[in-house]
Amino acid sequence: MPNRQLHEKNRKSWNSATRAHNSHKRDQAGFLRGGGSVLFPEELALLGALSEQKLVHLQCNSGQDSLELARRGARVTGVDISDEAVVFAQNLSRDSGIDASFERADVYDWLARSRPTEECFDVVYCSYGALCWLSDLPTWARGVADALSAGGRLVLVEFHPVAMAFDDERRLAHRYSGGKKLEWKEGVSDYVAESGEGLAPMGFEPGDSRFENGHACYEFAWSVGETVQAVLDAGLVLEALREYPYSNGCRFWSDMRLLDGRRYALPDDSGEIPLMFSLVARKPR
Ligand SMILES: C[S@@+](CC[C@H](N)C(=O)[O-])C[C@H]1O[C@@H](n2cnc3c(N)ncnc32)[C@H](O)[C@@H]1O
Repeated sequence: MPNRQLHEKNRKSWNSATRAHNSHKRDQAGFLRGGGSVLFPEELALLGALSEQKLVHLQCNSGQDSLELARRGARVTGVDISDEAVVFAQNLSRDSGIDASFERADVYDWLARSRPTEECFDVVYCSYGALCWLSDLPTWARGVADALSAGGRLVLVEFHPVAMAFDDERRLAHRYSGGKKLEWKEGVSDYVAESGEGLAPMGFEPGDSRFENGHACYEFAWSVGETVQAVLDAGLVLEALREYPYSNGCRFWSDMRLLDGRRYALPDDSGEIPLMFSLVARKPR
C-alpha cells in the first residue's frame, strides 16, 4: 500500500526545497523560449521522436524538462505532489510561451484517477530522482501500465540505487533494496546549489545560499532488480536496460569531476560504480 502520510510529509519538504532550487536558476523562461536545453542525450535518445506523442511526465517538479519535451513536439501533462513546483511549472509555461498542462497530485492518486477515464498515453516518462519517493513500487508500475495505450512505452532514466546506498563521504551506509523507509531529518537538500552549472544550464545564481529545510523527508530504496521485476509483473515488456558510470547534472559527492555535457564522474583515482540507469518497457498491443 502506498504510504500517503509520508508522501504528505515529502510534499512539504519538496515545497521548501523547490523554492531554494529555483532561486539558483537564471531566467528560466527566456532560456526555454530561446531554445535552451535542460535535457540530456540519454533521455532524448530513449524517448525518440516526440512529435504529437501524448506524454505524461510523472514527478515533473518545476516542469523545466516537461516544457522542453513540449517544445520538441510532445503533448505533455506534468504531475507532481509539490504545490510550489506545480505553480512554478504553470507560470513557466505561461512565461516561456510553451504549452503543457500541470497537475498537482500524489502520483498514486493521479494514476488511479487516470485509469477509469481511459485517458491513455503514448509515453510515461519518469526521471532523475523519482523512484526513491515511491513507497509502493508494484502499485506504481501497475498504474503506469494502466496509463499507457497499447504499444505505449515507459521511459525511465534514474540515478542508480547503488550510488544512493553511499553517504556524503562515499561510505556504504544505506540500504540498496526492499523499499524500507529512510528518514532524512534535514529534509530535501539544496542539491542544485551543490551541483552548480550541472543543474543550471541557464546560468547559476547564488540565490538562497543559507537554505535550511524545516521539513523531514522519507525515501524508499528500490534495487534495479526490484524495479525491473515490478515493471515486468505489471505486464510491460522490457526493451532496454542500461547503466552509466556518470551522473547527469547532479553532483553526489564534492570530489566529483565535471565532464563535458554537464555530467559528473567519480575522481580519476577511484574505482567505478554505476551512477545512473535507464529502462524502456512497452505495453503489448
Ligand atoms: C528530484 S525531483 C524529480 C525531478 C524531475 N526529474 C524533473 O524533471 O525536474 C522529485 C519530484 O518527485 C516529487 N514527488 C515526490 N513524491 C511524490 C508523490 N508521491 N507523488 C508525486 N510527486 C512526488 C517531488 O515533489 C519532486 O518534484
